[in-house]
Amino acid sequence: MSAPHWTDAYYGALYLDSVADLLTPRLSAIEAGIVETLLALRPGGRVLDVACGHGRHALPLAARGCAVVGLDRSRDYLARAAAAARAEPLSGGAATWVRGDLRSLPFPDGAFDAAFSWYSSLFVFDDATNERCLAEAARVVRRGGRVLVQHGNPLQLAVEPEASAARTLPDGSRVEERSSWDMAQGVDRCHRRLVRPDGAVLAATAELRYYSRSEWEGLAARTGLRLAALTSTPGAAGGSLSGPGPEAPDVVALLEKST
Ligand SMILES: C[S@@+](CC[C@H](N)C(=O)[O-])C[C@H]1O[C@@H](n2cnc3c(N)ncnc32)[C@H](O)[C@@H]1O
Repeated sequence: MSAPHWTDAYYGALYLDSVADLLTPRLSAIEAGIVETLLALRPGGRVLDVACGHGRHALPLAARGCAVVGLDRSRDYLARAAAAARAEPLSGGAATWVRGDLRSLPFPDGAFDAAFSWYSSLFVFDDATNERCLAEAARVVRRGGRVLVQHGNPLQLAVEPEASAARTLPDGSRVEERSSWDMAQGVDRCHRRLVRPDGAVLAATAELRYYSRSEWEGLAARTGLRLAALTSTPGAAGGSLSGPGPEAPDVVALLEKST
Protein backbone atom coordinates (compact mmCIF):
# COMPACT_ATOMS: atom_id res chain seq x y z
CA MET A 1 0.00 0.00 0.00
CA SER A 2 1.05 3.61 -0.57
CA ALA A 3 2.31 6.20 1.90
CA PRO A 4 0.15 7.10 4.92
CA HIS A 5 -2.59 9.65 4.24
CA TRP A 6 -5.15 11.48 6.43
CA THR A 7 -7.80 9.04 5.24
CA ASP A 8 -6.15 6.24 7.22
CA ALA A 9 -6.77 7.98 10.57
CA TYR A 10 -10.14 9.40 9.55
CA TYR A 11 -11.76 6.33 7.96
CA GLY A 12 -11.32 3.93 10.83
CA ALA A 13 -13.50 3.67 13.93
CA LEU A 14 -13.60 7.49 14.16
CA TYR A 15 -15.69 7.89 11.02
CA LEU A 16 -17.74 4.70 10.99
CA ASP A 17 -18.69 4.67 14.68
CA SER A 18 -19.78 8.29 14.50
CA VAL A 19 -22.01 7.92 11.42
CA ALA A 20 -23.17 4.28 11.56
CA ASP A 21 -26.57 5.11 13.09
CA LEU A 22 -27.18 7.81 10.44
CA LEU A 23 -26.40 5.52 7.49
CA THR A 24 -29.60 3.55 7.88
CA PRO A 25 -30.50 0.63 5.58
CA ARG A 26 -33.36 2.76 4.29
CA LEU A 27 -31.06 5.65 3.31
CA SER A 28 -28.55 3.27 1.72
CA ALA A 29 -31.35 1.56 -0.23
CA ILE A 30 -32.60 4.92 -1.57
CA GLU A 31 -29.07 5.87 -2.62
CA ALA A 32 -28.47 2.42 -4.18
CA GLY A 33 -31.72 2.90 -6.11
CA ILE A 34 -30.39 6.20 -7.51
CA VAL A 35 -27.14 4.49 -8.50
CA GLU A 36 -29.06 1.65 -10.13
CA THR A 37 -31.28 4.03 -12.12
CA LEU A 38 -28.63 6.51 -13.23
CA LEU A 39 -26.16 3.80 -14.18
CA ALA A 40 -28.95 1.86 -15.94
CA LEU A 41 -27.85 -1.31 -14.15
CA ARG A 42 -29.38 -4.61 -15.21
CA PRO A 43 -29.31 -8.00 -13.48
CA GLY A 44 -25.90 -9.51 -14.13
CA GLY A 45 -24.38 -6.06 -14.82
CA ARG A 46 -20.78 -5.70 -13.64
CA VAL A 47 -20.45 -2.68 -11.37
CA LEU A 48 -17.55 -1.34 -9.30
CA ASP A 49 -18.18 0.49 -6.02
CA VAL A 50 -15.05 2.64 -5.62
CA ALA A 51 -14.31 3.19 -1.91
CA CYS A 52 -17.22 0.98 -0.91
CA GLY A 53 -16.73 1.35 2.85
CA HIS A 54 -18.72 -1.29 4.73
CA GLY A 55 -20.67 -2.18 1.59
CA ARG A 56 -23.90 -0.34 2.28
CA HIS A 57 -24.53 0.30 -1.45
CA ALA A 58 -22.75 -2.74 -2.90
CA LEU A 59 -24.94 -5.11 -0.89
CA PRO A 60 -28.37 -3.82 -1.97
CA LEU A 61 -27.14 -3.66 -5.57
CA ALA A 62 -25.95 -7.26 -5.38
CA ALA A 63 -29.31 -8.18 -3.87
CA ARG A 64 -30.91 -6.66 -6.99
CA GLY A 65 -28.92 -9.03 -9.20
CA CYS A 66 -25.77 -7.05 -10.05
CA ALA A 67 -22.28 -8.51 -9.98
CA VAL A 68 -20.72 -5.94 -7.67
CA VAL A 69 -17.08 -5.51 -6.76
CA GLY A 70 -16.49 -3.32 -3.71
CA LEU A 71 -13.03 -1.78 -3.49
CA ASP A 72 -11.73 -0.05 -0.38
CA ARG A 73 -8.47 0.63 1.40
CA SER A 74 -9.79 -0.28 4.86
CA ARG A 75 -9.36 -3.90 5.89
CA ASP A 76 -11.84 -3.39 8.73
CA TYR A 77 -14.60 -1.91 6.55
CA LEU A 78 -14.17 -4.69 3.98
CA ALA A 79 -14.38 -7.32 6.74
CA ARG A 80 -17.66 -5.77 7.87
CA ALA A 81 -18.97 -5.78 4.30
CA ALA A 82 -18.04 -9.44 3.84
CA ALA A 83 -19.69 -10.36 7.15
CA ALA A 84 -22.88 -8.53 6.15
CA ALA A 85 -22.87 -10.32 2.78
CA ARG A 86 -22.60 -13.69 4.53
CA ALA A 87 -25.47 -12.80 6.88
CA GLU A 88 -27.79 -11.83 4.03
CA PRO A 89 -27.61 -14.25 1.10
CA LEU A 90 -27.70 -12.24 -2.13
CA SER A 91 -30.48 -13.43 -4.36
CA GLY A 92 -29.12 -13.65 -7.89
CA GLY A 93 -26.29 -11.15 -7.64
CA ALA A 94 -22.80 -11.37 -6.24
CA ALA A 95 -20.54 -9.18 -4.13
CA THR A 96 -16.75 -9.44 -4.15
CA TRP A 97 -14.49 -7.40 -1.88
CA VAL A 98 -11.10 -6.13 -2.97
CA ARG A 99 -8.60 -4.25 -0.83
CA GLY A 100 -6.91 -1.65 -3.00
CA ASP A 101 -6.24 2.00 -3.68
CA LEU A 102 -8.56 4.05 -5.83
CA ARG A 103 -5.58 5.92 -7.29
CA SER A 104 -4.51 2.77 -9.11
CA LEU A 105 -7.36 0.33 -9.54
CA PRO A 106 -6.32 -3.33 -9.70
CA PHE A 107 -8.60 -4.16 -12.64
CA PRO A 108 -8.07 -4.44 -16.40
CA ASP A 109 -9.40 -1.85 -18.85
CA GLY A 110 -13.13 -2.18 -19.51
CA ALA A 111 -13.72 -4.75 -16.75
CA PHE A 112 -17.01 -3.16 -15.65
CA ASP A 113 -20.22 -1.91 -17.22
CA ALA A 114 -20.30 0.93 -14.70
CA ALA A 115 -18.51 2.36 -11.68
CA PHE A 116 -19.62 4.66 -8.89
CA SER A 117 -18.21 6.38 -5.84
CA TRP A 118 -20.56 7.69 -3.17
CA TYR A 119 -20.17 9.97 -0.15
CA SER A 120 -17.33 12.29 -1.15
CA SER A 121 -14.92 9.37 -1.43
CA LEU A 122 -13.20 9.80 -4.81
CA PHE A 123 -11.64 13.24 -4.45
CA VAL A 124 -9.55 13.28 -1.30
CA PHE A 125 -6.19 14.27 -2.86
CA ASP A 126 -4.71 17.21 -4.78
CA ASP A 127 -6.36 18.10 -8.09
CA ALA A 128 -3.91 16.23 -10.30
CA THR A 129 -4.36 13.04 -8.25
CA ASN A 130 -8.12 13.47 -8.10
CA GLU A 131 -8.18 13.65 -11.87
CA ARG A 132 -6.13 10.46 -12.00
CA CYS A 133 -8.69 8.78 -9.71
CA LEU A 134 -11.51 9.72 -12.10
CA ALA A 135 -9.39 8.56 -15.05
CA GLU A 136 -8.92 5.22 -13.28
CA ALA A 137 -12.68 4.81 -12.83
CA ALA A 138 -13.12 5.67 -16.52
CA ARG A 139 -10.40 3.23 -17.57
CA VAL A 140 -11.97 0.19 -15.88
CA VAL A 141 -15.41 0.90 -17.42
CA ARG A 142 -16.17 -0.47 -20.88
CA ARG A 143 -16.75 1.83 -23.86
CA GLY A 144 -20.25 3.30 -23.59
CA GLY A 145 -20.27 2.54 -19.85
CA ARG A 146 -21.17 5.00 -17.10
CA VAL A 147 -19.46 6.50 -14.07
CA LEU A 148 -21.26 8.19 -11.18
CA VAL A 149 -19.65 10.32 -8.48
CA GLN A 150 -21.41 11.87 -5.50
CA HIS A 151 -19.97 14.61 -3.27
CA GLY A 152 -20.93 17.71 -1.28
CA ASN A 153 -22.44 20.76 -2.94
CA PRO A 154 -20.04 23.71 -3.34
CA LEU A 155 -22.96 26.08 -4.05
CA GLN A 156 -24.57 25.21 -0.73
CA LEU A 157 -21.27 25.61 1.13
CA ALA A 158 -20.71 29.00 -0.48
CA VAL A 159 -23.90 30.15 1.27
CA GLU A 160 -22.96 28.57 4.60
CA PRO A 161 -19.21 27.93 4.70
CA GLU A 162 -18.86 27.17 8.40
CA ALA A 163 -20.77 24.42 10.22
CA SER A 164 -20.54 22.65 13.52
CA ALA A 165 -22.53 19.97 15.27
CA ALA A 166 -22.32 17.74 18.31
CA ARG A 167 -24.36 14.77 19.40
CA THR A 168 -24.37 11.77 21.69
CA LEU A 169 -24.27 8.35 20.06
CA PRO A 170 -26.41 5.40 21.17
CA ASP A 171 -23.43 3.92 23.12
CA GLY A 172 -22.91 7.18 25.03
CA SER A 173 -19.94 8.38 22.95
CA ARG A 174 -19.87 12.07 22.12
CA VAL A 175 -19.11 13.20 18.57
CA GLU A 176 -18.20 16.76 17.62
CA GLU A 177 -17.74 18.01 14.07
CA ARG A 178 -16.56 21.32 12.71
CA SER A 179 -16.25 22.03 9.02
CA SER A 180 -15.01 24.96 7.04
CA TRP A 181 -15.39 25.49 3.29
CA ASP A 182 -12.30 26.87 1.57
CA MET A 183 -13.88 28.45 -1.49
CA ALA A 184 -10.56 29.31 -3.15
CA GLN A 185 -9.43 25.69 -3.10
CA GLY A 186 -12.86 24.03 -3.31
CA VAL A 187 -12.01 22.01 -0.23
CA ASP A 188 -14.20 21.29 2.80
CA ARG A 189 -12.06 20.71 5.90
CA CYS A 190 -13.99 18.63 8.41
CA HIS A 191 -12.61 18.09 11.87
CA ARG A 192 -14.19 15.21 13.76
CA ARG A 193 -13.65 14.25 17.39
CA LEU A 194 -15.11 11.19 19.08
CA VAL A 195 -14.97 10.84 22.85
CA ARG A 196 -15.77 7.35 24.12
CA PRO A 197 -17.67 6.81 27.37
CA ASP A 198 -14.34 5.68 28.95
CA GLY A 199 -12.71 8.98 27.93
CA ALA A 200 -10.68 7.65 24.98
CA VAL A 201 -10.48 10.23 22.20
CA LEU A 202 -10.19 9.76 18.42
CA ALA A 203 -9.76 12.86 16.25
CA ALA A 204 -8.76 13.69 12.66
CA THR A 205 -9.42 16.18 9.88
CA ALA A 206 -10.73 15.31 6.42
CA GLU A 207 -10.09 17.42 3.33
CA LEU A 208 -12.79 16.78 0.75
CA ARG A 209 -12.66 18.36 -2.70
CA TYR A 210 -16.01 19.30 -4.26
CA TYR A 211 -16.07 20.41 -7.90
CA SER A 212 -18.26 23.04 -9.57
CA ARG A 213 -20.11 22.40 -12.83
CA SER A 214 -17.41 24.08 -14.94
CA GLU A 215 -14.70 22.12 -13.13
CA TRP A 216 -16.67 18.90 -13.76
CA GLU A 217 -16.86 19.71 -17.45
CA GLY A 218 -13.08 20.08 -17.57
CA LEU A 219 -12.49 16.91 -15.53
CA ALA A 220 -14.80 14.92 -17.79
CA ALA A 221 -13.20 16.16 -20.99
CA ARG A 222 -9.69 15.38 -19.76
CA THR A 223 -10.58 11.84 -18.65
CA GLY A 224 -12.37 10.74 -21.83
CA LEU A 225 -15.83 11.11 -20.32
CA ARG A 226 -18.89 13.17 -21.15
CA LEU A 227 -20.74 14.92 -18.33
CA ALA A 228 -24.22 13.55 -19.02
CA ALA A 229 -25.88 15.16 -16.00
CA LEU A 230 -25.14 17.03 -12.81
CA THR A 231 -27.92 16.49 -10.31
CA SER A 232 -28.36 15.78 -6.57
CA THR A 233 -29.78 12.99 -4.44
CA PRO A 234 -33.21 14.64 -4.11
CA GLY A 235 -33.13 15.67 -7.80
CA ALA A 236 -32.30 12.16 -8.98
CA ALA A 237 -34.82 10.57 -6.59
CA GLY A 238 -37.48 12.89 -8.05
CA GLY A 239 -36.43 12.15 -11.62
CA SER A 240 -34.74 15.51 -12.26
CA LEU A 241 -31.29 15.61 -13.82
CA SER A 242 -31.05 19.40 -13.93
CA GLY A 243 -28.17 21.09 -12.15
CA PRO A 244 -28.34 21.34 -8.36
CA GLY A 245 -28.76 24.84 -6.93
CA PRO A 246 -27.59 26.06 -3.52
CA GLU A 247 -30.47 24.27 -1.79
CA ALA A 248 -29.30 20.81 -2.81
CA PRO A 249 -27.46 18.83 -0.11
CA ASP A 250 -25.07 17.21 -2.56
CA VAL A 251 -23.91 16.83 -6.15
CA VAL A 252 -24.30 13.68 -8.23
CA ALA A 253 -22.27 13.68 -11.44
CA LEU A 254 -23.22 11.19 -14.14
CA LEU A 255 -20.60 10.59 -16.83
CA GLU A 256 -20.45 8.47 -19.97
CA LYS A 257 -17.46 6.92 -21.65
CA SER A 258 -17.47 7.31 -25.40
CA THR A 259 -18.24 4.25 -27.52
C1 LIG B 1 -16.94 8.47 3.43
S1 LIG B 1 -16.45 6.80 3.31
C2 LIG B 1 -17.64 6.28 2.13
C3 LIG B 1 -17.85 4.80 2.04
C4 LIG B 1 -19.02 4.39 1.13
N1 LIG B 1 -18.81 4.82 -0.24
C5 LIG B 1 -20.32 4.93 1.67
O1 LIG B 1 -21.00 5.72 0.98
O2 LIG B 1 -20.67 4.57 2.79
C6 LIG B 1 -14.95 6.94 2.37
C7 LIG B 1 -14.29 5.62 2.06
O3 LIG B 1 -13.14 5.82 1.24
C8 LIG B 1 -12.18 4.85 1.58
N2 LIG B 1 -10.89 5.31 1.08
C9 LIG B 1 -10.20 6.41 1.45
N3 LIG B 1 -9.06 6.52 0.74
C10 LIG B 1 -9.03 5.46 -0.10
C11 LIG B 1 -8.11 5.02 -1.10
N4 LIG B 1 -6.98 5.71 -1.35
N5 LIG B 1 -8.39 3.91 -1.80
C12 LIG B 1 -9.51 3.22 -1.54
N6 LIG B 1 -10.43 3.57 -0.61
C13 LIG B 1 -10.18 4.69 0.10
C14 LIG B 1 -12.28 4.79 3.09
O4 LIG B 1 -11.69 3.63 3.63
C15 LIG B 1 -13.79 4.84 3.27
O5 LIG B 1 -14.36 3.56 3.26
